[in-house]
Amino acid sequence: MHGINLSANARTVSVDCLQAILADGIDLALLTKHAHWNLKGSRFIALHEMLDGFRSDLDGHVDATAERIVQLGAVAEGSVQAVAASTRLPVYPDALRAEEDHLAALAERYAALVGAVREGIDQTGGAGDAVTADILTGFARSLDKALWLVEAHAG
Ligand SMILES: [Fe+2]
Repeated sequence: MHGINLSANARTVSVDCLQAILADGIDLALLTKHAHWNLKGSRFIALHEMLDGFRSDLDGHVDATAERIVQLGAVAEGSVQAVAASTRLPVYPDALRAEEDHLAALAERYAALVGAVREGIDQTGGAGDAVTADILTGFARSLDKALWLVEAHAG
């Protein structure tokens, strides 16, 4: 059997980065739907539909992140218990209703995740795992766009 040709150090760096980003990404995917369901305001349908698009994009990148962890020989920790224990995103306020409040909460969390992903690009690329850095670059590109759209609606 032939594994991916990477140093043990590169694998460790990549798995650690990917695992943390996986937890954050699943958290963000869940709370994107939470906002999609609960926000209220005059732009409801635009925001409701925009957030469904974000969720679809997130699901694709979360999947690529998890599959890369397994390609590197580790277990992708995708249970809700593992995610709750590991996510670095701030707890989502549970009383939000107004669309402006949801947009502000989302912007904070999309910015936090894209910051972590950008750090991950540097760490994994620096360790010699260009493929993981590329996967994370695609994730960051998607998150940058989502953050732009959220901030454009926030005014
Ligand atoms: Fe829906």
